[in-house]
Amino acid sequence: MGFFKKKHTPPEHRVLPKHIGIIMDGNGRWAKKRRLPRSAGHNAGGKVFRKISRYCSDIGIKYLTVYAFSTENWKRPKEEIDALMKLFKDYLEEALRDFKDDSIVVRFIGDKTPFSDELKALMIENEEGSKDRDGMVLNIAMNYGSRDEIVRAVKNICKGVKNEEFDIDSIDEDLVSDNLYTAGQPDPDLIIRPSGEYRISNFLLWQSAYTEFVIMNKLWPDFKEKDLDEAIDIFNSRNRRFGGV
Ligand code: IPE
Ligand code: IPE
Ligand code: MG
Repeated sequence: MGFFKKKHTPPEHRVLPKHIGIIMDGNGRWAKKRRLPRSAGHNAGGKVFRKISRYCSDIGIKYLTVYAFSTENWKRPKEEIDALMKLFKDYLEEALRDFKDDSIVVRFIGDKTPFSDELKALMIENEEGSKDRDGMVLNIAMNYGSRDEIVRAVKNICKGVKNEEFDIDSIDEDLVSDNLYTAGQPDPDLIIRPSGEYRISNFLLWQSAYTEFVIMNKLWPDFKEKDLDEAIDIFNSRNRRFGGV
């Protein structure tokens, strides 16, 4: 990290990523280090989610996508899943409504089907209640898996062909993008993964074709505003070529 510190970009010259993705990872390890149940790590991570979302909105980020629960996370013990569902419910009832002061538009990406009727209703209520705001778009990835998202897009496109809405030859990259949960949004410029894991874990596979990745050796519940600033500095030190020279 010292290397990047030397290249610190003065704030006035800093380029802000338009869209940031965050894989909110490391809650379990944070709790384990403190001999606490994993659910305590998720509770601590939830608070950081609230703080960092607000911070991104304050500094002028236009789109933030946070990975909260993957299609693979259902494999976890029932006790942990139950604690997470309870946490989601609390957040949907309280924290997300708080975002109205920041004009944040809340959207959920992922398949809502397996969630309880109560959670589904709360998710829809939050989306409907915030859709006319003019601030940062916050995508919360819940039961999100990028492979699942791509399969869903393929099915939609096949239906379009079958119903003669368009023909096979007109299928292009834009049409695929338009059939993803993130339709109409710019691709992420920067994806941050705290907790030190060097993998994507089924997050935004199509959308991250040219995203800059920043892996940080910090567990999500320990993540601070200054860590987000550091990730933006690292992003500024990168030379994005998009296949050019
Ligand atoms: C991320 O933290 C939160 C979810 C996946 C819901 P983890 O629970 O994966 O934390 P670690 O990776 O076990 O430390
Ligand atoms: C990715 O973290 C999913 C979320 C943070 C919600 P995981 O902890 O599930 O990823 P793996 O299992 O380490 O790849
Ligand atoms: Mg993890």
